Amino acid sequence: MKERRRLPAAHETAGGRTSRPARPAGQDWWRHAVIYQIYIRSFADGSGDGIGDIAGIRSRLPYLAELGVDALWITPWYSSPMADGGYDVADHRAIAAEFGTLAEAEELIEEVHRHGLRIVLDLVPNHTSDRHPWFAAARAARPGSVERARYWFRPGRGRDGELPPNDWRSVFGGPAWTRVAGETDTQAEWYLHLFAPEQPDLNWDNPEVRAEFASILRFWFDRGVDGMRVDVAHGLVKDPLLPDLAVDRHDLDGDESGGKPVAGHPHWDRDGVHQIYREWSAIARSYAHTDRGARMFVAEAWRVRPGGLARYLRPGELHTAFNFDFLKCPWDAEAMRACIDDHLTALSEVGAPATWVLSSHDLTRPVTRYGTGGDWTRRRSGLDTGAVDIALGTRRARAAALLMLALPGSAYVYQGEELGLPDVDDLPDHALQDPIWRRSGHRVRGRDGCRVPLPWSGAEPGLGFSAAAPWLPQPSWWRRLSVRAQTATPGSTLTLYRRALRLRRTRAAFRGASLHWIDAGDGILAFGRGAGLECLVNFSARTVPLPGGSTVLLSSSPLESHRLPPDTAVWLRPG
Ligand code: NOJ
Repeated sequence: MKERRRLPAAHETAGGRTSRPARPAGQDWWRHAVIYQIYIRSFADGSGDGIGDIAGIRSRLPYLAELGVDALWITPWYSSPMADGGYDVADHRAIAAEFGTLAEAEELIEEVHRHGLRIVLDLVPNHTSDRHPWFAAARAARPGSVERARYWFRPGRGRDGELPPNDWRSVFGGPAWTRVAGETDTQAEWYLHLFAPEQPDLNWDNPEVRAEFASILRFWFDRGVDGMRVDVAHGLVKDPLLPDLAVDRHDLDGDESGGKPVAGHPHWDRDGVHQIYREWSAIARSYAHTDRGARMFVAEAWRVRPGGLARYLRPGELHTAFNFDFLKCPWDAEAMRACIDDHLTALSEVGAPATWVLSSHDLTRPVTRYGTGGDWTRRRSGLDTGAVDIALGTRRARAAALLMLALPGSAYVYQGEELGLPDVDDLPDHALQDPIWRRSGHRVRGRDGCRVPLPWSGAEPGLGFSAAAPWLPQPSWWRRLSVRAQTATPGSTLTLYRRALRLRRTRAAFRGASLHWIDAGDGILAFGRGAGLECLVNFSARTVPLPGGSTVLLSSSPLESHRLPPDTAVWLRPG
C-alpha cells in the first residue's frame, strides 16, 4: 500500500507498541460497530476432529481483538443433527457436542467481554429440527392435537390426501411439504417446511411458541450475550388459510433471497411479524439496567416489500437489518450511489442505522463475485461455471471493503473476507454437505464453497485450522492467503483490513450518521463524512487525479502518484 504520508494512529505510542483504542461504548454500540461473523464449523478447531468449535474460537480471540472488530456473531452452535449446518436446532439451550459444552460457551462469553468485544448469537425462530422434542411429540400425536398445533400440520389434497396441502416451494428446492412418515392411512398429514424437511416450520400463532422463544432469549441474555441475529426474520408468520401461491408469484424454487417481494405474500414479510418483534424488543430493553445494558437484534430479512426493512426497524422493534441490496449492487458508481442513498433515506425515517454487508456463509464471496461480473446468485442458481478472475475480484473486493467501512452505520465482516478468500469452486461432489445440493437433485452445488475452513498458517494438514483433515478440504494454494503469510506481507488484504478498522475506530469522522456526496466525475463515487474524511471509489476504466492538497489515509491498491487507478478506493483527509 502506498501512502503519501503516514499518519500515526492516535493510539500508537512512541515505541511503536499499540494500546487498545476504545470500542463503541454505551447502549447504542451497534449503531457504529464492525461485527465479525464466525461460521463456527469453519473458523478454528480446538479439539482436533476437523470441525471448528468453541475451543478454537477461544484460542483465536487475540486475533479478533487485534483485527480491530467490535463484536462477534457466532452462527448456530446449539445441539443439532446438522441437516442445515446447525440452522436445524434440536435444543436451544444446549451446545452441539462437536462444538463444545454449555460451560465452555459461558466461559467464551466472559472471555469475549474481557477482550473488550461483544457477542451476538443466532436465533432460529422460523423452524426447529425435526429431532426437536416438540416435533418428535407432534409426529407421534394425532391430527388436531396440541402437539401438532405448534407446527403446521395439514391433511393432503387429492382423493387419498396424497397431494401436498398447497403449492408452496421449499427455499432449498422441491415442495415445502412432507407427509408424516409411518402414517400410511388416508389420515396421514403433511407438515410445512420452507427449508429442508428436517426443518419443520413453527406456528407463531401459537402462544406456546411465543413464550418458548421469549424464554430462550432470556436464557442467553442472562448469560451476557449482547444481541441476537434473527434468522429468516421475514418468514415467521404465515397466512393461516395457507392459500396456493400463483405460479407467477414464485421463482427459483421459492428462493427467499431472489425474486421480487410481493404484497400479500402468504409466508414472506407479513404484517404479523412486527408484533413478535415488539415483544422481543421489550425483552432486550429489560436488560438496560444490567452491566452490559440493553441487548440488540439484527434481522436477516430478504423478501420484503419496497421500503420494508424500515418497518422492521421502527422504534420499539428490531435495531438493525442487513442491507443485502448493497452486495447485490452491480459494480457501477451510479447504481452504488442509488443503493446507498435508498437505504440511508429509508432508515433515517425511522431513526435506525444502516447495516452493510458484503458476504456471509450463504453468499458467493466478494472476490469470486466481483471476479465473475458480480453475479451474487451464481452459487444459488447453479450457474457457477466459467473462470474467476481472482486478481480483478481481489482488487474490487478490497475497494468494496474500504467503501463499506467508510459508510455511516454498522458493518459485518464474514470470516475470511479479511483474508480476501475466494469461493472454492472445485470441492469434490462427495464432500458437499449443503442440503441444497441434495434437494436440487445435484443440480445446484449450494453454499459449501464459501464455507471452507480458514487458513491460519502453512502447516499441513488443515493449514493451521485443525490437526486433522478439515470437514471440507482447503485448496493448498490458500497457504499464501493464510493469516500467518498475510501478517508478514505489507499490503496484504489482512493488513488493509487491520489498518482500515484502526482508522475507523480512532477517527471521529467515522462516527455519526452524516454523509454528503461529492461530484467527482463519471464513474467515480465520492462522499465526505463531516469535514475530516472523504472516500473516493473509482468504478471507471481510467486513472483519475485525487483532489489537490488532500492527504491519503489509506488506499485499497497502490496509487499512481496522487492519482486513483480503476477499481480502487481511497480514504482522504481533504486539504
Ligand atoms: C438463513 C441462514 O443464513 C441459512 O444458512 C439457513 O440455511 C436458512 N436461513 C434457514 O435457517
